[in-house]
Amino acid sequence: MPKVHICEVGPRDGLQNAKHLMPTEAKKAWIGALAAAGIREIEVGSFVPAKLIPAMADTAEIISFAKTIGGLKVVALAPNLKGFQRAIDAGAHKVTFPVSASRAHSESNVRMTPDQMIDEVRRCAALEHPGVEIEGAVSTAFGCTLQGEVPETEVVRIAVALAEFCDAVALADTVGYANPAQVKRIFSRVKKEIGAKLEGAHFHDTRGLGIANALAAYEVGVRNFDSSMGGLGGCPFAPGASGNVITEDLVFMFESMGIATGISMEKLFVARGLLVKGIPDEPIYGHTPVAGLPKGFRAAA
Ligand code: COA
Ligand code: ZN
Repeated sequence: MPKVHICEVGPRDGLQNAKHLMPTEAKKAWIGALAAAGIREIEVGSFVPAKLIPAMADTAEIISFAKTIGGLKVVALAPNLKGFQRAIDAGAHKVTFPVSASRAHSESNVRMTPDQMIDEVRRCAALEHPGVEIEGAVSTAFGCTLQGEVPETEVVRIAVALAEFCDAVALADTVGYANPAQVKRIFSRVKKEIGAKLEGAHFHDTRGLGIANALAAYEVGVRNFDSSMGGLGGCPFAPGASGNVITEDLVFMFESMGIATGISMEKLFVARGLLVKGIPDEPIYGHTPVAGLPKGFRAAA
């Protein structure tokens, strides 16, 4: 049994910020390879207006495909009720909502204040949604490029509000401002308020601390992590945002520590090949894929 659960967000967070479009068939091949590597949850796209993010226009088709892969949890992001309805119609297993703790980022990203966005998610949760999990993701939970500091009390307040009607709550470092001490403090503080409803950690590697932050979160009990293959990613509505913590390096860290992820490094490298093939002009990152696995590397049992 895996000891940590990794959700690959590259097809959503990664491709939404890429300069180039990945063709639909290439997305399917990449997602198939990610699942074949042992990834059990993939955020495959978002339901936002296509003119806002053209790379997400094919999300419904991608969901139909991803649902044919046995044992895979298929996740989509939605910013409002219309997006949630589209996600339900498409058959997503889980829908994640970005609820920014920074008012400035919230207004830039979803054209709503944090409280308006909480109300929007509440309306979604009140809708019939059999078998569809709802996650509230508190974005810019560690700071914001538009607003600067984000008060911790505001992060806690929003997480508590979301926990009332969401199945799970995640904390996201949208612009890569977090440090490990802050991660331990804020995750512990929120956990004290909402307990097991606090599930996911979503880090960006903008200042090189993504993997350190993931380890810090692990050390305070977090077991669900988002990451992006090749370190693609970033919110187009948060200035200065860049890629997520890199899946290949995150899996390598856990596996080499003896913490099972259920994911094969070798098969991840195969999936990385399909990512490059699908979007060849996009720069991608990753230390482990470039350096290779250490001699004698053994995956966690
Ligand atoms: N999917 C598709 N179309 C949508 C939609 C959705 N989820 N939500 C709204 N629309 C359509 C409306 O029907 C309307 O269409 P029309 O002009 O043909 O009538 C148009 O978009 C504007 O609708 P409105 O409700 O006024 O939206 P808005 O312009 O205030 O934008 C959001 C609000 C939330 C839709 C937009 O800010 C958004 O999608 N944000 C998310 C951005 C994102 O993906 N960020 C990165 C991930 S965190
Ligand atoms: Zn993100």
